[in-house]
Amino acid sequence: PLPKPFQRALPLPPVLKPVRTDADTDYYEITQKAATAQILDDLPTEIWGYEGTFPGPTIISRRGRRTVVQHTNELPVPVVVHLHGGRVAADQDGYPTDYLHPVSGRVADSHGKGLNGEQGSRDYVYDIDQPAATLWYHDHRMDFTGPQVYRGLAGFHLITDDVEQSLGLPSGERDIPLMIADRSFAADGSLAYPSVDGSLLGTPGVTADFMSGVLGDCVLVNGSPWPVLEVEAVRYRFRILNAANARRFRLRLDDGPSFVQIGSDQGLLSEPVTLERIDVAQGERFDVVVDFSEYSAGTRITMVNERGEGTTAQVMQFVVSGPGKDDSRMPSRLAELEVLSEADVVATREFTFRRGGAEAHGMSLWTVNGEAFDPERVLAQIKVGTVERWRVISQNNEHPFHVHLGAFQVLGSSGGTAGRSDVGWKDTVNLDNGGQADLLVRFEEHQGLAVLHCHNLEHEDMMMMANFEVV
Ligand code: C2O
Ligand code: CU
Repeated sequence: PLPKPFQRALPLPPVLKPVRTDADTDYYEITQKAATAQILDDLPTEIWGYEGTFPGPTIISRRGRRTVVQHTNELPVPVVVHLHGGRVAADQDGYPTDYLHPVSGRVADSHGKGLNGEQGSRDYVYDIDQPAATLWYHDHRMDFTGPQVYRGLAGFHLITDDVEQSLGLPSGERDIPLMIADRSFAADGSLAYPSVDGSLLGTPGVTADFMSGVLGDCVLVNGSPWPVLEVEAVRYRFRILNAANARRFRLRLDDGPSFVQIGSDQGLLSEPVTLERIDVAQGERFDVVVDFSEYSAGTRITMVNERGEGTTAQVMQFVVSGPGKDDSRMPSRLAELEVLSEADVVATREFTFRRGGAEAHGMSLWTVNGEAFDPERVLAQIKVGTVERWRVISQNNEHPFHVHLGAFQVLGSSGGTAGRSDVGWKDTVNLDNGGQADLLVRFEEHQGLAVLHCHNLEHEDMMMMANFEVV
């Protein structure tokens, strides 16, 4: 049986310490391995985790410094580490067939690419020169991202800079990452994922019933079911990430304060935006401040999911412990943001995300412009530093659109939802079934081959992904 909600304290992922540091670089080491987690009340659950934890440890990088993460793969399958939202070199970005094979041996895949990549350990080198932001890292293995993230391969990677540090926002113990994801458990306590081949070594994909995505009945925050956070009656900063495979959340604080959004996927906004509810698609981040100062000791405030039903309608709870001293500020101006202009557009493109146009094993696949992902085909060539206008169209389902390597601003969207906030620089945008968005996109720093895809991980694994090249 599922645990009772609001019994456990919210766990905080540990912050990873560098193993060494020099004038311009911080070096980290992460081992990816299987481990046992106590998620349910009485049964242990095997997870796959960075350092054996779910979520993995949080990495904090400072703008202007280099971060090197040495990953060692002690899992039985190939892995790929993607820094979601990172504007990093294309060969460090976690291209889906850029494998890190297990310490125990190389594994071939169904694309004839199985011998690609390194074995055992490799360094991911991130030259961090982007504004303070809430990024995350997660597995991105070709065809198997869904099951591998589901088993626990996800963690936060925060970037900080002088602008953020000067603002006086809630910090330290009052700056809390919230990784929200749903999961299902089998009767023996294991994570239940409907893979065609549970070894994740043979045929990829999920059984036919789950083509639209894998949903769970248990909502986890930082790996714990419906946890509770004790708060003082002061301001807190929450970095909300939807790390679910296929579930979109609409969050609201029931009988509680509003969210004050201060940041989006790619960093701080120019000014705060007050929102009663936020729609968070898979992969999106909302950086918010919540002010509990008007609530007396003992008040319980539930974060609800207005898109959920039954067990998935609740997310977590806050309990106010009593008054506290608050020296944080809520500035009316946050960061200076460049606003991209349509006048600068040098090319326009359209990407339609839908089902059909290609099939495998007798099933119609999820496609981009009617084509299944082909590592050999490049859908678009984009000149580095230029602005393009992309229209992204979503059909047959909801498709959160995500692009690697670059960032975009949302010009406008239709088929939007209540409380939508697509302000600031983003790398993922929430699209309804039948919706579309117009984006101004720019790849500022890095050239090379990368992917755009749907962040419903089952859609992604079932080929809703395309290559582009920044030149
Ligand atoms: Cu968060 Cu290409 O993914
Ligand atoms: Cu999709």
